[in-house]
Amino acid sequence: MTDKSSLRVGVIGLGTVGSGLVRTLQRNRDRIARNAGMPIDLVAVADINPDTFSRLDLAGIETTSDAGRIIRDERIDCVAELIGGTGIARDIVLDAFRAGKDVVTANKALLATHAEEIFRTAEQYHRKIHFEGAVGGGIPIIQSLYGGIGAATVTQIHAIINGTCNYILTAMEKQGRNFRDVLKEAQKLGYAEVDPTFDIEGHDAGHKIAILASIACNTAIDFKDVHLEGIRDITVDDIKFGKELGYTLKLLAIAKDYQDSIDVRVHPTFIPNENLLASVHGVHNAVYTCAPGLGAVMLYGRGAGDLPTGNAVASDLIQAARDKTARQPVSYRNFYEKRKPVRDMANIEGSYYLRCIVADQAGVLATISHILGEHNISVSSMMQTEAGKDGVCPIVFMTHNAREGNVKKALDKIARQDVVKARPKFIRLERIEEVTQF
Ligand code: HSE
Repeated sequence: MTDKSSLRVGVIGLGTVGSGLVRTLQRNRDRIARNAGMPIDLVAVADINPDTFSRLDLAGIETTSDAGRIIRDERIDCVAELIGGTGIARDIVLDAFRAGKDVVTANKALLATHAEEIFRTAEQYHRKIHFEGAVGGGIPIIQSLYGGIGAATVTQIHAIINGTCNYILTAMEKQGRNFRDVLKEAQKLGYAEVDPTFDIEGHDAGHKIAILASIACNTAIDFKDVHLEGIRDITVDDIKFGKELGYTLKLLAIAKDYQDSIDVRVHPTFIPNENLLASVHGVHNAVYTCAPGLGAVMLYGRGAGDLPTGNAVASDLIQAARDKTARQPVSYRNFYEKRKPVRDMANIEGSYYLRCIVADQAGVLATISHILGEHNISVSSMMQTEAGKDGVCPIVFMTHNAREGNVKKALDKIARQDVVKARPKFIRLERIEEVTQF
C-alpha cells in the first residue's frame, strides 16, 4: 500500500449488498473521492455465479469466479467481503489480512461469532477492518460509536435492528393481523427470507447487538451469552392490551453497561408509546443510545437493502482510503481482551407485562395479587376484559421494577392455581429513561 493516489478495491460477492456497493461507487464516484481524499477504484469483482456480472456495468473491471485471485492481486489495497456466512467468508477475511490487505465487510455473523480471531489477526498483520454495513444497513451507528459520539461513555443501547421482525410487528399492531399471515406476506414481498428462522428467533439482531455492545461497553462477548428470544409467540391480543396500557411492542436488542458487568439481550419488549422508538415502523431500523453527559442520540434509517447497505460499505471504503494516508496504530482490543460478565437473566431487574387467562369468578384477582406480593412484585396498572361464553378472561398486569427470577417463580405458582386456565405469559418492559447526569 505505498501508492496513495487511489484506493484500489476488490469485491468478493455480488449479491444484494455487493451489487449495491458497486452501484453506489459508480453513482457517487466524485463525492466519494472528495470525502475519501482520493478516488476509490474498483479493480476486480468475484462471484461464483457469472450471471451476476451481466446485471451490472462492469466495463473495465476484471471479473472472476475465484476469490483467491482478488486476495492475491497485488494491485488491490482493500477487499470487500460480501458473501456472508462464517465459513468461506472467514477464510477470505483472514487470508486478505495475511496478504497485506485491509477489509470491509457487512458480515455480522462472522464478527459476532469469530470476533477474537478476526480482530487479533487484523492487529497481527497491522491491517484494518471496517464493518458499518454489518449493523443497521444504511444507519451509521458503528462510525458514530467510534467517532461522532466516540467521546461519550454509552451506557445503554436500545435498538430495533431487525427489519423483518419490525415489519411483522408493525403490521400486527396496525392491521390486527396474526403473526403467520403477516410472515407469509413479508416472504412474498421479499422482506422475510424463505427460511425466516434466523430473523424471527432473534439471531440476526443478536449478532448485531453483540457487535455494538463490544464497542460501546468495551468488552469481548461470547455470542452464546447473548439472551435471544424471538417474536413467534406474540399475539395480536398482547399488542392490543399493551397499547391500551400505554406501551408499544417491539423486538428490541439491548445492551447495558454496569461497568463490572453487562446486559446483552434480544427479546420482544414493551416500550412507552411516546418513546421515539415506538414510532419506528415497518422495515425501518433505529438505534437509541444513552450516555451520561451526552444524553440520548437516536439514529434511524433503512436497515437492509442493496443501496442502503451498499452506501454503508462504501462509507467504510472512505475510511479505508483515509487510513492509507494517516494510519493510526491498530487496536481492536475491546473485542477480545477483557470480558465483562453478562448478567444472568434471573438477576436482571425490570418491569413486566403479565397476562393470565383465568376463570371469571370472585377472588381470582386477590389470589394472583397475593402471589405477586409474596414475590415482591408491585403492580403499576392492570386491565381485565369481559369473559367469553367459556367463562374465562384475560387479566393483564404491568409491574413496577422487579427481579426477573422472582417474576418467573411467581408465574410458576400462578400457573398451578385451579382458576388459571393457561400458562401465564410475560413480556419485558423497558421505560428507556434518558441518562443525562455524569
Ligand atoms: N435480515 C435482516 C433484517 C437484514 O431483517 O433486518 C440484514 O441484516
